[in-house]
Amino acid sequence: MSEKDFIHGGDIYTEGLLKGRALIDFSSNINPKGVPESFKKHINEGFQMIERYPDIKYRSLKKDLIYYNEKYFNLKLRSEDIVLGNGASEIIDMILSYLKTVVLPVPSFSEYGLSIEKWGGNVIYSKLNEDMDYDYLDILEKLKEADGLVMGNPNNPNGGVIEEEKFISILDYCENNGKIVVIDEAFIEMNGYDGSLITLIENYKSLFIIRALTKFFGVPGIRMGYGITRNKKVLKYIIERQNPWNINSFAELCTHYVLYDEEYIKDSIKWVEEEREYFTGELSKIPIIDKVYKTRANYCLCKLKDMKDEELYNYCLDKGVLIRRASNFKGLDNKYVRFAIKSRELNNILLNILKDIPNKKVLEK
Ligand SMILES: Cc1ncc(COP(=O)(O)O)c(C=O)c1O
Repeated sequence: MSEKDFIHGGDIYTEGLLKGRALIDFSSNINPKGVPESFKKHINEGFQMIERYPDIKYRSLKKDLIYYNEKYFNLKLRSEDIVLGNGASEIIDMILSYLKTVVLPVPSFSEYGLSIEKWGGNVIYSKLNEDMDYDYLDILEKLKEADGLVMGNPNNPNGGVIEEEKFISILDYCENNGKIVVIDEAFIEMNGYDGSLITLIENYKSLFIIRALTKFFGVPGIRMGYGITRNKKVLKYIIERQNPWNINSFAELCTHYVLYDEEYIKDSIKWVEEEREYFTGELSKIPIIDKVYKTRANYCLCKLKDMKDEELYNYCLDKGVLIRRASNFKGLDNKYVRFAIKSRELNNILLNILKDIPNKKVLEK
């Protein structure tokens, strides 16, 4: 497999589906509860919807997002604060095309750097510290030379969240100096709906929040994401460049049911809290693992002791399990891997595989 091939998790195709092989996928960070029943039950409504174009203004879809953000994030959005995207990825790409020089803490989701470069922008890196926390002072310093910043909340691949007290001076600085702060909250629900910075949009026009249904509602194939800001100039810039009808009818339908699915939401929060504690606790007892980084998401970054990421990847693949090598995240090397957090049963399968690996020096010198 080439370096380029594993830029994302979830390449269940190359080693799995295309070879007719059933793999357990620990590389992609999707809610293992799967597609909510509330959507599945109503999927037939989608067949009527696809007979016509979606509402070009997506009025009903925006109402659903407004309801959800008020109920779970205490923010009364206005429909003009929302821009819709074909997954969070479209929004990430659009907002990053707006910026010329961007401060990018690393490691972080590879698409940020790729988008900035694709649009001819410049990246100024800020390394996370040894515990994989943001270096807020370094970010602030580097912003002097940039017109924007992008941060994950929680961040991928480590799952760390932004500390609001430390972050606020960055936001104040950006607000007062006409810079844009992009916060990717694609995984925020995994933190039990805590720690979102979304209410700050009321006072900060510099703030741009990205969300998606993808991860928490287990629907990566639906491609439904959105951006939120009170910055009219930024919204206008993105909307003018988007294709019409970028959200398909099934994504509209899905949003309409899953955002109201209180049972799915409640069960998912319970699952992620319990399993995160169990899984990270067990991982930290495993001899081949040197460090388990603290996480508030549904995945966890680990540093290996004497093994390369590729060796562990191949070892697990032999046992039918796909993991995420993390060496292609900027700022990491071949000692890092990322595991998704799944159901107890599946987590135990991976834990048992890892426990059985003897802790011997296999790192080629
Ligand atoms: C931090 C982060 N943001 C956004 C995305 C992309 O989300 P979507 O599938 O909704 O485009 C990913 C996908 O892995 C991600 O890890």
